[in-house]
Amino acid sequence: MENSSLKEGAQDGSLSVTRNAAFIVESGRIAWMGSAQQAPAADARVDLGDRAVIPGFVDSHAHLVFAGDRATEFEARMTGTPYSAGGIRTTVAATRAADDELLRGNVRRLVDEMARQGTTTVECKTGYGLTVADEARAIRIAREECDTATFLGAHVVPAEFAERRDEYVDLVRGPMLEACAPYADYVDVFCERGAFDETETRLILDAAKGHGLAVRLHANQLGHGPGVQLAVEYGAASADHCTYLADADIDALSGSSTVATLLPGVEFSTRSPYPGARRLIDAGATVAIATDCNPGSCYTSSMPFCIALAVREMRMSPAEGLLAATLGGARALGRTDIGYLAVGARADFAVLDAPSYLHLAYRPGVPLVSSTFKAGIRQ
Ligand code: NIG
Ligand code: FE
Repeated sequence: MENSSLKEGAQDGSLSVTRNAAFIVESGRIAWMGSAQQAPAADARVDLGDRAVIPGFVDSHAHLVFAGDRATEFEARMTGTPYSAGGIRTTVAATRAADDELLRGNVRRLVDEMARQGTTTVECKTGYGLTVADEARAIRIAREECDTATFLGAHVVPAEFAERRDEYVDLVRGPMLEACAPYADYVDVFCERGAFDETETRLILDAAKGHGLAVRLHANQLGHGPGVQLAVEYGAASADHCTYLADADIDALSGSSTVATLLPGVEFSTRSPYPGARRLIDAGATVAIATDCNPGSCYTSSMPFCIALAVREMRMSPAEGLLAATLGGARALGRTDIGYLAVGARADFAVLDAPSYLHLAYRPGVPLVSSTFKAGIRQ
């Protein structure tokens, strides 16, 4: 295999670029990497010309198990109606009414759409079922169709529990978690005004820990609040959104292993202020970028689009954008085998119809990914 490739320093998280590079894939892993002139013999050889090769994107935050869309809600937003968590209930109704095949087909369509844009690893949340049976089928579909499955029964309190919130929280941390835990890698809570408050979030996170499950949080999306601090206190893999951060939140994140996952497609699609990525990076926090692909707050499946937003709107450098979308996402999912290209890493990569990763932000909206490989197999 001969190409111009990028490789990320697996150790320190800085980006290193190798020109006129080659690598050898064996049993789904990178077995050799170096200069094309020195490449050893291989069974098959692919010359990629001057195309850049990047690690496959790790989309560490997506909500793919749903039915219907909310294009009219988007239209209303663009003419002045603010985004609110309540819109989730519209998708809950459509999702409950859908059969398994429709839901599974939707997930497959979106995962395929992601792969065509360079994504090789997808995290997928439940959260549009909100009954024991509907959440259980959602987590099974997420488990079967995606790389990482996250139980988000605490997405919003469904309408039938509006006057009985405590009962819903008990359902989530009791029978619903019981039914979903065998299929879940993580438990997530939307900790936000209009969704779940600090006390409710603690109850659910404690129950998750009781099942031995790792946690992540939707935190500080719509306003300041306790989400980020809770995420750090509970050792969450990630605190996601981080749009409204106090200095103490930045300090907490930078002094922890909790990844700050930024979802700039949401700010774009809800016409909201972007998170302070520079504050986080300059303070030493680990930052990931993900799509948050969902029918309400952000219906993009494109990691290149999110990188372009991160660079243009959040003042991340193109290198920081690529690292956050690859290695950062891997860290948010607790993975050490993906998100970079080096000997021993999984052969998950994307080939760009461009000479450099810089083009991801430089040419926004252009379909630059010519092919995507997962464990060495073309997707
Ligand atoms: O991450 N914030 C909570 N959940 C999703 C939005 C879901 C929806 O609006 O349907 C998010 O933005
Ligand atoms: Fe989300």
